[in-house]
Amino acid sequence: MTLASPQDFTTRLDKTAEDTETLLGHILSDDVLENEIARPQRLIEAMRYGSLNGGKRLRPFLVVESAALFDVPRPGALLAGAALEAIHCYSLVHDDLPAMDNSDLRRGRPTTHKVYDDATAILAGDALLTIAFDISTRDEIHPDADVRLKLTRALARAAGIGGMAGGQMLDLAGEGRFGDKIQPDVARLQQMKTGALLRFGCQAGAILGRASDAQYQALDDYGRAFGEAFQIADDLLDIEGDAAALGKPAGQDAALGKATFVTQLGLDGAKQRLRDLLATADRALAPFGAKADVLRAAARFVAERKN
Ligand code: IPE
Ligand code: IPE
Ligand code: MG
Ligand code: MG
Ligand code: MG
Repeated sequence: MTLASPQDFTTRLDKTAEDTETLLGHILSDDVLENEIARPQRLIEAMRYGSLNGGKRLRPFLVVESAALFDVPRPGALLAGAALEAIHCYSLVHDDLPAMDNSDLRRGRPTTHKVYDDATAILAGDALLTIAFDISTRDEIHPDADVRLKLTRALARAAGIGGMAGGQMLDLAGEGRFGDKIQPDVARLQQMKTGALLRFGCQAGAILGRASDAQYQALDDYGRAFGEAFQIADDLLDIEGDAAALGKPAGQDAALGKATFVTQLGLDGAKQRLRDLLATADRALAPFGAKADVLRAAARFVAERKN
């Protein structure tokens, strides 16, 4: 089996990042929004600030590349990826608020609430979340309304109480801020707060591609392992990375008293779990053979990334 070279992976990630940037920039542009919405300019600007010019765009990449396994036309997959990225960007804008992680730096720039104000950042997050469902239900995503419905429901579930939002609550509870500090189930916390959106990226490809049950399951297994691995890498970078490369502060988790696999298993234990998860992710892709090499490369990237 040939493995996708790092160059293939980087070229494809860069291309999807560029296309996602263009697409989100267009969706959030004055002329597109003006027909439908009376425009509070400050809110549009804050939405653009929180979602454009930055980010690895790894979630749209997962949608596009898992959809490519089924030869799904790229424009629909990119649109689904843009919906997912809008939710991810909203989650970052809110995550950085003083009431949550209280962070001043994101993607190498001041956070949205620093440039605007807390209330505008809250509303920009709300509007990025809701525009995601405007996008995910558009006809251009897929000609079959049933596919769009499945996609939209899966996206809602990944973002909501059983996914990202619920996981963020467990993350804050793990700091002990709502009472006694009880060691949370870190695996569940990570799978929800970060894993769910990344996993949805893989599910989305399978939904758009009308995958068989076995294919859906394989991609879902890959996405679950990938998602948990991604957050462990993020927690390791918070300790071992540096703010200049990360584009966000390091050392925040310890300062906030977060519960992570590092606090639970130690640095070496967390690194071992990351390796195990990457092996699981790799194995899950077996049914797709060499066609999934770029997704294999994505899993390696998670372990080796510096930002
Ligand atoms: C950061 O996600 C937040 C986590 C879920 C750990 P990314 O590392 O994907 O952030 P961007 O989008 O590239 O900035
Ligand atoms: C955030 O996790 C996960 C989200 C749902 C946004 P972190 O709080 O660890 O993300 P960073 O380190 O601020 O990017
Ligand atoms: Mg957080
Ligand atoms: Mg944070
Ligand atoms: Mg972090």
